[in-house]
Amino acid sequence: MERAIEKILISADEIEEKVAEVGMKISEDYDGKNPIFVGVLKGCFVFMADLMRHVTIPCTMDFMAVSSYKGTTSTGAVMINKDLKQDIEGRHLILVEDILDSGVTLNYLKNYLMVRKPASVAIVTLMDKPAHRKADVYADYACFDVPDAFVVGYGLDYNERFRNLPYIGILKPEVYSK
Ligand code: IMP
Ligand code: MG
Repeated sequence: MERAIEKILISADEIEEKVAEVGMKISEDYDGKNPIFVGVLKGCFVFMADLMRHVTIPCTMDFMAVSSYKGTTSTGAVMINKDLKQDIEGRHLILVEDILDSGVTLNYLKNYLMVRKPASVAIVTLMDKPAHRKADVYADYACFDVPDAFVVGYGLDYNERFRNLPYIGILKPEVYSK
């Protein structure tokens, strides 16, 4: 697996430190608001598991599953594969994403959920990759700004592989040009 990685972009230690910091910041900002964290599967699962252990306020969690991606290029179409079952009217929503790239997915999700009248919707993302932003959407909390490269690890995949790497790495171009 490691042979497919060109370089480590963010180490496991760096991730740990930053995720703790963001978890504590959210805890301060949402104190008394009983937010609901909504993880966007599958990419969020490692990040969210670590983040939640640094959130010290009462809150609840749920997950949605969307797909918009094939290989390293976005298809631009967003599909909801798993929706929320609970009522979110009046709740403070925090969407948890692995990476904000074109912004098409989160922009779609945000609008999709707004209709249900939550009290607020915020976005926390592990990585922000602003190079290809198409939709007018911003992260309220972003752990890392990343350059225009295809990254894997810590939940992020290339064709379902590499999610289990403990760090964020840049994939060797020959892996996806094969
Ligand atoms: P967006 O709709 O273009 O913002 O894409 C969001 C989704 O695309 C993310 O949740 C990821 O699943 C996927 N994605 C975007 N960039 C990368 C990357 O560099 N590596 C792995 N997945 C990515
Ligand atoms: Mg994703």
